[in-house]
Amino acid sequence: MDSVLLLLSLWALVGSASLQTVGPCPDRLLGQERRKTCPRPCTLDRDCGSKRQCLCDGQCGLSCVAPGRTCPWPLPVAENTEVRLLSPTHSFSALLEVRCKPGFALSSGLDAIIRRCQGDRQWSGDEPTCTEVQITEGEPEPEPTEALTCPLPKDVTDTFSIQGNASVGTSIHYSCLSGADLVGSSENFCQENQTWQYPHPICKKVYCQPPKDVEHGYVVAVQKTEYEVGFDVHFLCKKNFLLDGPQKVTCLPNGSWSEAPPHCRIRCLIPAERSRVVIGGVKRWPFDVTDAMVPHGENVTFFCKHPNKMCSFTASQTCYDGHLQPPACYLEPTWLQYKLFPHRLVSEIEACDLEEMA
Ligand SMILES: *[C@@H]1O[C@H](CO)[C@@H](O)[C@H](O)[C@H]1NC(C)=O
Ligand SMILES: *[C@@H]1O[C@H](CO)[C@@H](O)[C@H](O)[C@H]1NC(C)=O
Ligand SMILES: *[C@@H]1O[C@H](CO)[C@@H](O)[C@H](O)[C@H]1NC(C)=O
Ligand SMILES: *[C@@H]1O[C@H](CO)[C@@H](O)[C@H](O)[C@H]1NC(C)=O
Repeated sequence: MDSVLLLLSLWALVGSASLQTVGPCPDRLLGQERRKTCPRPCTLDRDCGSKRQCLCDGQCGLSCVAPGRTCPWPLPVAENTEVRLLSPTHSFSALLEVRCKPGFALSSGLDAIIRRCQGDRQWSGDEPTCTEVQITEGEPEPEPTEALTCPLPKDVTDTFSIQGNASVGTSIHYSCLSGADLVGSSENFCQENQTWQYPHPICKKVYCQPPKDVEHGYVVAVQKTEYEVGFDVHFLCKKNFLLDGPQKVTCLPNGSWSEAPPHCRIRCLIPAERSRVVIGGVKRWPFDVTDAMVPHGENVTFFCKHPNKMCSFTASQTCYDGHLQPPACYLEPTWLQYKLFPHRLVSEIEACDLEEMA
């Protein structure tokens, strides 16, 4: 709000300053002028003699002034203020900004005023005094004195989450709202002249590369050269192959897939023919099992003979991607043993007592 008021008053002054050369000047406001004296009023330059011109002198209206006359400059340093000449010279109609230091304000509540070099060689208005701003409880925080900011266009604020308030002399930090990769500098500095030190960065759209092919399986997704974030790719294995890993992967915001693609694991041939084995808790002949094969990950329990006694104990092996070795203790019965003495096959005799094994 202060900055708007300041800007308006500056425009008003600049306006009247330019008006003096082109158009009407306000009538002399007798009795309202703050200064002691006004120069001689006039309507035309020839009313003023050779050394003066008929110029607009603020509240004094058109007055005979010597345009080359200057106002005091530099001004004595006043407490808690910063004084800045806004015009190239400090002669008649030059403008001066008096700004209170942060935390201080003028009695008007504003933190800056504009003063004009008058025909009487004085700066307009009273000598400003800046007093400390009292922060009263319950009232909203006063407007920050650091009102100057660097521009943040809508497309930038729509693209990034921005940390920092873009005030002159401060830095901001960008992060892409989409979670995309940021290209450029993620920090920027708002310079004194209200421009950014660097161009705004950009958010690169992230894609995932097509997932690797799965041997003995299918990638179930529309064929693309790249996939958007959030895209799901499904996997299937060919018949008789077992999916080992995720059934689905998702393209993550960092361009990686949520998981590595799965494997399609091969079944294992049961390495026994003339013995029963236990598969899934069921004791069966291998030839009764479809294709005499077990899926990847399946446990197969074999029967082994006690070294000295006529009893059996068990040993298990797991099928891993086509590999299933019989346990070392397992002996495949001969065709004769199988044909002639089927009841004496190791898988068919009594199980050893646990004590007998010990
Ligand atoms: C911006 O932030 C700085 C410190 O980070 C603070 O000093 C300043 O008052 C803030 N300005 C505005 C306009 O919020
Ligand atoms: C703003 O200031 C910076 C550094 O002081 C300078 O490099 C840049 O050219 C200035 N920009 C404008 C538009 O004046
Ligand atoms: C992508 O993000 C995931 C989850 O946040 C993480 O596990 C993975 O390591 C990241 N990959 C890369 C290449 O940064
Ligand atoms: C196979 O045996 C291992 C260890 O004995 C067990 O962790 C696994 O769950 C078993 N697998 C099946 C399919 O029963």
